[in-house]
Amino acid sequence: MEPGSLFAISDLHVSYPENREFVAGLRPASDADWLVVAGDVGEKVADLEWTLGRLRERYAKVLWAPGNHELWTHKSDPVTLRGEGRYRLLVERCRALDVLTPEDPYPVWEGAGGPCAVAPLFLLYDYTFRPDGVDQATALANAYEAGIVCRDEMLLHPDPYPSREAWCRARVAQTGARLAALDVPTVLVNHFPLVEDPTRILRYPVFAQWCGTRLTADWPVRFSAKAVVYGHLHIPRTTTHDGIPHYEVSVGYPREWRRRGGPRGPVRVLPA
Ligand SMILES: [Fe+2]
Ligand SMILES: [Fe+2]
Repeated sequence: MEPGSLFAISDLHVSYPENREFVAGLRPASDADWLVVAGDVGEKVADLEWTLGRLRERYAKVLWAPGNHELWTHKSDPVTLRGEGRYRLLVERCRALDVLTPEDPYPVWEGAGGPCAVAPLFLLYDYTFRPDGVDQATALANAYEAGIVCRDEMLLHPDPYPSREAWCRARVAQTGARLAALDVPTVLVNHFPLVEDPTRILRYPVFAQWCGTRLTADWPVRFSAKAVVYGHLHIPRTTTHDGIPHYEVSVGYPREWRRRGGPRGPVRVLPA
């Protein structure tokens, strides 16, 4: 068997038929390849299962971290669960497909570039990606005034937490404790960027408040990350922060990838 690589992709958005077709055509380069899927597969539980099921048939290991779209309670989905209940159902469905989630022990990549614990994370956002000196309520009001409001405000319910930011803080606390107990380097995989800098080129800067949390700014260094993987911004590129590569691996919507000449396939994360 050829030596494998660790690949990453996100924002498959398979409710678009063109994206679904793209997923149907994805193949590993080697039988030993792993694939991490960093969220925004789609809005329906059945779409998540279809996608991860197909990918699991082809890749030696598949890991998933939820995006905001999976967490929506959307009218197109017969599953009407909200918040944590919906997340737990998604985790169960992944486990039935032998796909690893943020609730499972982090597997160690022993191939080239390893050993590394590959950690899919579910951290959400807490509205702290906003200009210094602007409070949360004002930042949100500014977004409404500009007409740039993330649909999460209507569709991503935090139940039983009082707010999305409270859910985020709980996730950050639990996850930080798990990562601190590791004794190997990591690959950190989250739907949202772990550092604020990549959000500075957003076309609508007020949208950054739905893109992450300042609580994770030192995580890549603190948890010896060899790489960070994220999506959500739909701006595929690689940047370096504190000497660590951060890969934005989104496919995005057809209208976005058509401008770039086609959807980009999985990005090789390890070996670097
Ligand atoms: Fe997305
Ligand atoms: Fe997203």
